[in-house]
Amino acid sequence: MNPHESIILHLLHVAAALVLMGYTFYAFAAAPETRKRVLIWTGGASLVMLLTGLRMWQGLYGFAPAGWLIVKLICWLGLSALAGIAYRKRGKAGLLAGVALILAVTAVAMVYVKPF
Ligand code: HEM
Repeated sequence: MNPHESIILHLLHVAAALVLMGYTFYAFAAAPETRKRVLIWTGGASLVMLLTGLRMWQGLYGFAPAGWLIVKLICWLGLSALAGIAYRKRGKAGLLAGVALILAVTAVAMVYVKPF
């Protein structure tokens, strides 16, 4: 992978993570009629994260089955589901926000520490 593509992929990946996190936290307190619009944003951001992540996994690591990547995939799956759950479980917003934070911090820690 050339350096330009690598930078663009990293940038898109992190930008999508910011959009996903922002709209997920918004979903915890947003009015019910915002559901469709918010889920379009979180769904789009989540897809961009997955596609850029997969391309970086291929281009930088040749799809080597690294533990830290599997953990990131699990965090991504959880985070992607949270906005939809937030609209249905209003009473659990505090708990869900805590889960979102833990998943996001774990996913970021995996990239920089790569413990396994
Ligand atoms: C909760 C979801 C995720 C978060 C918050 C997240 C966050 C990040 C961050 C902050 C970086 C570092 C960017 C940089 O150093 O410029 C990164 C890189 C990366 N992510 Fe993710 N990511 C997530 C999901 C995924 C998924 C699902 C995959 C794989 C399919 C993935 C694969 C990668 C790869 C391969 C890199 C590049 C690592 C490197 O440069 O050595 N990420 N991610």
